[in-house]
Amino acid sequence: MKNKRILVTGADGMVGSYVNDVFSDHDLYLTDLVDLSEDCVYLDIRDPAAVMDEFQKIKPDLVLHLAAATDVDRCQLEPDWAHSVNSIGTQNVALACQETNALLVYISTGNVFSGKKETEYNEFDNPGPMNVYGESKLAGERIVTSLLNRYYIVRAGWMIGGGAKDKKFVGKIASMIVDGDSSLKAVNDKYGSPTYARDLLNGISKLVDTGYYGLYHMVNPGIASRYQISEVLRDVLEYPDLEIESVSSEHFPSPAPRIRMEALRNYKLELLGCDWMRPWEEALQDYVISELLPILL
Ligand SMILES: NC(=O)c1ccc[n+]([C@@H]2O[C@H](COP(=O)([O-])OP(=O)(O)OC[C@H]3O[C@@H](n4cnc5c(N)ncnc54)[C@H](OP(=O)(O)O)[C@@H]3O)[C@@H](O)[C@H]2O)c1
Repeated sequence: MKNKRILVTGADGMVGSYVNDVFSDHDLYLTDLVDLSEDCVYLDIRDPAAVMDEFQKIKPDLVLHLAAATDVDRCQLEPDWAHSVNSIGTQNVALACQETNALLVYISTGNVFSGKKETEYNEFDNPGPMNVYGESKLAGERIVTSLLNRYYIVRAGWMIGGGAKDKKFVGKIASMIVDGDSSLKAVNDKYGSPTYARDLLNGISKLVDTGYYGLYHMVNPGIASRYQISEVLRDVLEYPDLEIESVSSEHFPSPAPRIRMEALRNYKLELLGCDWMRPWEEALQDYVISELLPILL
């Protein structure tokens, strides 16, 4: 795929921060809730007329729909916000794709599942979300499948990335380790599949070339607890003597329930012979060395 017109929603977020690198061969039209930026245009996906106008102006070949309400606890406390962004916002984007005949890539999540399975979820498992974030992202999936023939729904795992802007788990724990913080605790009873946002976009750039439309899981394979991720971080950062306390999730109560098993298997990609994703430990190590270490030290 070369020289496509690609419109990106939520381009200022964690995944969006890799779009320029991964899709550098294309004409990019970046949008988000930004005030003033030369590279990125303000577009609130909750506004159907504004979305349609932007799409008709740009006439994209491909849409990377990354905009989302991703704060899981805020989604639980403000379900109208979650549904207006993740469900209605996605409907607005899908309708604009329908009108302009653009191919849509919608990123979803393992939160669409109940978490009761013992091992990784695959694409043939039935969803059954346990929190509002998962409900609203699943509603977005269903809207996409009902409105479009040509789409990719790509479910990702615990997102890793952002470099200097990384305020998520990996960024926080890495700074605590480098600061020698001896009060480090990490949860050992919830499981997910870490997903390096750069790998995800690289995988998506290959997937959209296949023409194999549909629903996919795309994570860095393997199952990890936050505690196991912290251990890998400690090893990569070379702080072997730093104690990390392994604790249950009861130590970190939160408004939104967190499911026990959120890990995903890239089963359809495996069956098609195109699972390009590397194991999570390798991806995490690469992220830390290439993006975090230079700013931490
Ligand atoms: N983060 C994860 O662990 C994870 C895991 C699996 C799947 N995903 C999915 O991956 C996709 C990308 O997530 P991410 O990690 O890059 O999230 P992110 O860093 O929160 O980025 C999302 C972007 O969307 C913007 N946004 C929010 N409401 C909007 C609206 N009404 N109109 C336009 N833009 C809006 C956000 O702006 P503000 O920051 O100003 O709100 C933010 O820049 C999302 O679909 C998410 O559901 C994320």
